Amino acid sequence: MPRSALFTSLVAAASVASALVAQPALYFLQIDTESSYAFTVTDGKNQSVVSNIGILAGSKNNSMTAVSKDSDETSVDFGFMTPTIVRVNVNSSLGFTGAQFATAEGALHYGVWAHPFNESIVNSNVVFDLKGMQGNDGINYASVRSPFFVSSAGYAVYTDTQAMGSYSFSSVDNKNEVQFGFNATEIVYYIILPESKGDLKSLLTQYGGLTDRSPLWSPKAYGPMFWHNDFQRKSGFPDGVNSSQEFVEDVVNKLAQHRIRASAVMVDRPYGTGTEGWGNFDFDTEYWPDIRALVKHVAQKGLDFQVWVANRAVPGSQLYNDSESRGWLLETASEEQPGHALNLSNTEAYMYLGANIDWLPNLGIKGYKIDRGEEDEMPVWEQNTQSYLFHKLLYEGQAKQWGSASADNRRPAGFYNFARNANDRSRKYTGVWGGDPASSIDGLLQSIRNGIRSGLLGFPIWGSDCGGYTRKVGRNQPTEKLWARWMWFSAFSPVYEVMLYEGSIPWYDYSDDLVDVLRNTAQLHHELIPFIQSYMYRATVDGLPLIRALFLEASKDDDSVWEADESYFFGEEFLVAPITRDDGEKEVYFPKGQRYLEYLNKQDVYDGGSSQTFTMGIDSVPVFVREGSIIPRGDIYRNNRQWEDNNTSDEWRPWLNIEIYPSYGVKSSKFIYFDEASGRPVEIKMEADKSRKTICVSYGRMSAPGKLVFYVKGGAREFGLSRQGANKCVRNVETLFD
Ligand SMILES: *[C@@H]1O[C@H](CO)[C@@H](O)[C@H](O)[C@H]1NC(C)=O
Ligand SMILES: *[C@@H]1O[C@H](CO)[C@@H](O)[C@H](O)[C@H]1NC(C)=O
Ligand SMILES: *[C@@H]1O[C@H](CO)[C@@H](O)[C@H](O)[C@H]1NC(C)=O
Ligand SMILES: *[C@@H]1O[C@H](CO)[C@@H](O)[C@H](O)[C@H]1NC(C)=O
Ligand SMILES: *[C@@H]1O[C@H](CO)[C@@H](O)[C@H](O)[C@H]1NC(C)=O
Ligand SMILES: *[C@@H]1O[C@H](CO)[C@@H](O)[C@H](O)[C@H]1NC(C)=O
Ligand SMILES: *[C@@H]1O[C@H](CO)[C@@H](O)[C@H](O)[C@H]1NC(C)=O
Ligand SMILES: *[C@@H]1O[C@H](CO)[C@@H](O)[C@H](O)[C@H]1NC(C)=O
Ligand SMILES: *[C@@H]1O[C@H](CO)[C@@H](O)[C@H](O)[C@H]1NC(C)=O
Ligand SMILES: *[C@@H]1O[C@H](CO)[C@@H](O)[C@H](O)[C@H]1NC(C)=O
Repeated sequence: MPRSALFTSLVAAASVASALVAQPALYFLQIDTESSYAFTVTDGKNQSVVSNIGILAGSKNNSMTAVSKDSDETSVDFGFMTPTIVRVNVNSSLGFTGAQFATAEGALHYGVWAHPFNESIVNSNVVFDLKGMQGNDGINYASVRSPFFVSSAGYAVYTDTQAMGSYSFSSVDNKNEVQFGFNATEIVYYIILPESKGDLKSLLTQYGGLTDRSPLWSPKAYGPMFWHNDFQRKSGFPDGVNSSQEFVEDVVNKLAQHRIRASAVMVDRPYGTGTEGWGNFDFDTEYWPDIRALVKHVAQKGLDFQVWVANRAVPGSQLYNDSESRGWLLETASEEQPGHALNLSNTEAYMYLGANIDWLPNLGIKGYKIDRGEEDEMPVWEQNTQSYLFHKLLYEGQAKQWGSASADNRRPAGFYNFARNANDRSRKYTGVWGGDPASSIDGLLQSIRNGIRSGLLGFPIWGSDCGGYTRKVGRNQPTEKLWARWMWFSAFSPVYEVMLYEGSIPWYDYSDDLVDVLRNTAQLHHELIPFIQSYMYRATVDGLPLIRALFLEASKDDDSVWEADESYFFGEEFLVAPITRDDGEKEVYFPKGQRYLEYLNKQDVYDGGSSQTFTMGIDSVPVFVREGSIIPRGDIYRNNRQWEDNNTSDEWRPWLNIEIYPSYGVKSSKFIYFDEASGRPVEIKMEADKSRKTICVSYGRMSAPGKLVFYVKGGAREFGLSRQGANKCVRNVETLFD
């Protein structure tokens, strides 16, 4: 049974400290003796874990065949890179390279696309390219992708390439095979194995270490952010508003008037002169008489100002004229598409676009909504490379003005960019918005699946268009119920972004009840930012998303979670089950091995392994905390909270509560809180001693003033937080889980 020299030396290195005690190897490679390359990874019990039944090469993307060991065109190299990662390198002069895997019957596969094929988080009978999505039912342009899949059999495969490729997940004839191939003469793929049996989170963490992790973004990233698909217009303004510029002011004022917390406003296209309102590097003064004053004023109100951008040069624009004459335009993939993408692989084109977009950050714009690139503006095989280059260019331009995240991510970037069309390596340069969902229950459901799937691809920072995107004036507008349900989902998403539209603006077109839901969910989301920012910091280290498929957090023996896609874990602590039915009913399954407390009323406890149906009005959502949870929640970023100006007793002051949900069933638990003011991760640790009926919480230095709140029977017990850190115990208590 050959093992690579590297693996042997790693094992040797690891065992130095323990003298002569050999470290047991977790996995072994077993090479097939056939004439074609094939191998199996087995565990210490000689059980097959992965079966890589073929390495593929060919001169066409649909006719690759198994590579023979004596091939002149193709060479292969493989071996353990770490005790849990096998690295495989394939070079072939034939042009296309790939691999084929067989897995146990019944194994399920996840990943590659954020788009929920078959309205599911599982890839079953899906054959598709590694490219952006176009129009689909329920959700359009949910284009996030990565050459990475996870098998429920307990392994993952990552191919480190920007090349165009295609994946096939089929269970035809019960073969249950996965096959992929790339338009590349060289690929490197990694077979990633769990660090301990069933630890699927360790697959995502190791993948994160092979690719690029997200940077820490400005806390303004999380929103709520408000945008309008069409701020630029001549008519159809709300009463008393006379222009596009005043319309933006009006949104800012209405948020304050209704006490709705927010961190940014975003102006979608069109906003410039010329066709499509984009490509002349300007704001159209007919609509925006004084854009500088507007951006400044919005900033004074505590909000970031963001705008839309795309790599698309439309005929007639300066971008088109300059690029066309220099031969920088890529061919379109369809004759109907008039706009061409610039070839950003060309350094001069890249420099030109960067230099011409930089006036936006100079103006005060703090972040971009990055659109398109998958709408036939370029040949399909350019999509992965070009979207990455565009994201890089935009990150660099913003970073010049506002600062990038520090290398250790203890200082966040000073802005936030987000794209719908992102491939693997883009994670380093952009957050994600989940495409253009239908303004319907189906759009909401697809968005939940899209969020879970984005998480499984290692994209931690994600939001969906709250209320749905595909609206029309006078029809297809979100109903009041749908909006409310989506607002609750957005409150428990990393990013809460709200689309306003003519005829569907909450404070003009809906009841006060809906405005209340918006205010309450915006406030809740805002107070969760310490929790969210802590997880985003951790994602820079462990690569784990905040929106988690149930199976990532459930116990290993729970078979009910593999296809669960209408609820998710938000971090390790929350189980969130957005209502996705008109009648307000939701059946919630509680994964095994834990008990759960209803978070909003803090009374009802549910056992793992059980199901319960809830019926709720628009003012609530089924959301639960796991026993033993620690949740930092507070108001530590002021954002647009400036409405106490005339009432000093209501002055804004930062506060932070460390919420403690002890249970004697969980002896110890911890939370790594990211204290942004000092740039320090702070461990908060809880120990529960059943025999002494004592709960102790210890924590390190924290910048925000606040309280430690123990949620126990007989009412919450509160103590001031010591800024130096402390150890605090409560004795003789019954927990809410007893
Ligand atoms: C593992 O299985 C292979 C054949 O399947 C056999 O040749 C080998 O001896 C086995 N090794 C151990 C340690 O059992
Ligand atoms: C593939 O090509 C690269 C150079 O592009 C080389 O470093 C590598 O060793 C080659 N691998 C194999 C298996 O021939
Ligand atoms: C799943 O989706 C793919 C791609 O849209 C489609 O070709 C396939 O038929 C679907 N499979 C099932 C089982 O519905
Ligand atoms: C395979 O080729 C066809 C055209 O022949 C193209 O439409 C498809 O995108 C290609 N797929 C890959 C993975 O290159
Ligand atoms: C593969 O990529 C090359 C460019 O590198 C392109 O010319 C060719 O058409 C692509 N092949 C397919 C089938 O997409
Ligand atoms: C719009 O114009 C009217 C009439 O000129 C004016 O009274 C009102 O203040 C303007 N609205 C804003 C928001 O400036
Ligand atoms: C681009 O070129 C066209 C055709 O010459 C011209 O009509 C147009 O005004 C130019 N656009 C700009 C922004 O200069
Ligand atoms: C894009 O630019 C690169 C670098 O100049 C060049 O090698 C490549 O051929 C160009 N691609 C196309 C499709 O023009
Ligand atoms: C505070 O009072 C001033 C003057 O009376 C008024 O113009 C302003 O709108 C008030 N601000 C708020 C937030 O109510
Ligand atoms: C001032 O703010 C406090 C605290 O929110 C509130 O109770 C009080 O009613 C406010 N007073 C006025 C005059 O708005």
